[in-house]
Amino acid sequence: MKQLIAGNWKMNASLAGSETLVRSVLDGLKTAPVCDVAVCVPAPYLAAAQRWLAGQGAVHLGAQDVSQHASGAYTGEVSADMLREFGVRYAIVGHSERRQYHGEDDAAVAVKAQRALAAGITPIVCVGETLAERDGGHTEEVVRRQLAAVVHLNGHCITEIVVAYEPVWAIGTGKTATPEQAQQVHAVLRKQLEAASAHADRIPLLYGGSMNAANAASLLAQPDINGGLVGGAALKAADFLAIVAAAR
Ligand code: 13P
Repeated sequence: MKQLIAGNWKMNASLAGSETLVRSVLDGLKTAPVCDVAVCVPAPYLAAAQRWLAGQGAVHLGAQDVSQHASGAYTGEVSADMLREFGVRYAIVGHSERRQYHGEDDAAVAVKAQRALAAGITPIVCVGETLAERDGGHTEEVVRRQLAAVVHLNGHCITEIVVAYEPVWAIGTGKTATPEQAQQVHAVLRKQLEAASAHADRIPLLYGGSMNAANAASLLAQPDINGGLVGGAALKAADFLAIVAAAR
């Protein structure tokens, strides 16, 4: 399977800064990358990003969230069909920042994944434990519970999802999970997916949490790590390109 490197810009950059970043990434990819590449930009920049990315096939467009509702009186929400109209190929769902600050629970995340899939968008389903959960020995139980909700609702098309393991304690902290720690959790997730599908080996399992140009290669070399969901390092073209270059 091709690895996937997806940048999650979060609520960063300006319109002008976003254009510079996208163009620098495209310029840096003189030869087509061997892995899949995506940039998940803030929602107001999707239309512009679609134009910047037009006419090339190397970098796909992603969104950072999607509504769990199809349409209607949901002020501020953006539907999967709307995202699709702007050429969105991936949508992050259940990022820990959405779970933590916006009260998204496992059931809501599962419905978001379902909405994305129905619109032909690949959901990047985020799971991950907090430091307290890890210290309490609950890592596997937490990530299995988070993934189970998505599998339960989307079992019939589970091979169409991407999963991102993002330990909350590693996000934006500079504390990366060691390749062994990450692989251990990825193996648990792979096993869980294997129980749901005979083709679980096709589901990319990304690692996210302080991935950078220096540590990407050792993380991406793990057997069950099939890519990265990159926050801070995706905001600098050179760093993002170095991670892309480290992928297979
Ligand atoms: P950082 O790479 O900044 O730690 O963020 C990871 C992340 O949350 C990606 O979704």
